[in-house]
Amino acid sequence: MATELNRQEAGSRRQLLRTGIAAATAGTWTHCMAAADHETFSFVIVSDTHLGRNDDPAAEEQLRQGIAEINAGPGDFVLHLGDIVDKARAEHYPRYVAARAELKKPIHEIPGNHDNTELFLRHVTGRIDRSFDHDGVRFVLFGNAHEDSHDGFLAAEQVEWITGECSQAAALGLKIVFCCHVPVHANRHPDRGWYVKPDDGQTAFYDLVEKHSDRVLLCLHGHFHNGIRGWQDHHQVVEVLCPSLCYNQDRNLEEHLRAGRASGFFVPELRTGYTIATLGNGRLTLQYKPLGSQVDAEYSVEWK
Ligand SMILES: [Fe+2]
Repeated sequence: MATELNRQEAGSRRQLLRTGIAAATAGTWTHCMAAADHETFSFVIVSDTHLGRNDDPAAEEQLRQGIAEINAGPGDFVLHLGDIVDKARAEHYPRYVAARAELKKPIHEIPGNHDNTELFLRHVTGRIDRSFDHDGVRFVLFGNAHEDSHDGFLAAEQVEWITGECSQAAALGLKIVFCCHVPVHANRHPDRGWYVKPDDGQTAFYDLVEKHSDRVLLCLHGHFHNGIRGWQDHHQVVEVLCPSLCYNQDRNLEEHLRAGRASGFFVPELRTGYTIATLGNGRLTLQYKPLGSQVDAEYSVEWK
């Protein structure tokens, strides 16, 4: 069946990095993106805007510049993957909402560990765990950040809700993209070590990914401020950390990957910016769009 993952067909997956590093990853996708094949679309991923950081107006200026560039560029909609404000400071939520009013595309936000749940719900959006469908793909958004820890979680009721979302997606023939602030994927030193630990929901999440391995395409996160960094070692799902619009840090990931001290992929670009994702025709491309500059680095994975 063309829409099923066929593990018997040999190594046809081609992984491209125009600029970047990819470690070998397990598994081969075959026709697994068929539901989205006829509908290639793009969307924008913004994360970690940290409005109010260091009482510096720069973060808000970066957000407004980003919005202007997003308005002028590709993308059907925008995802904001959390840490909208810095240190949960209330006065910056109305400032975010005022800047957001300039965006001419739909936007879907989730909170990060710097966000306050009550303020987020009051100012940003009335519901955190939610989903929407776009061109054959169900986007499942959920809050998984503690306000007092860098590690993430999935509560039992969230697992139950996500299970229902996956079942619905399967019944409707939709692929699935997950969005949450804190990565689920383990990332010990020399990475940051911030993730959803096994007993806090990681095991349950990967059980779900395995059950729906023919349709889970992507898991998108913010949180790390390390540019585009990720893995593809749980079935076909590409787990990605997206860059911060506020600041990114050089943590020598390129060197650590080369030396085998870390696994996965990294696009060596650390300017403030956002990601333009394109999905369909058996390919995912994540373009790193630095503020004020053209795209010149990307991660791309293709399945045939
Ligand atoms: Fe964060």
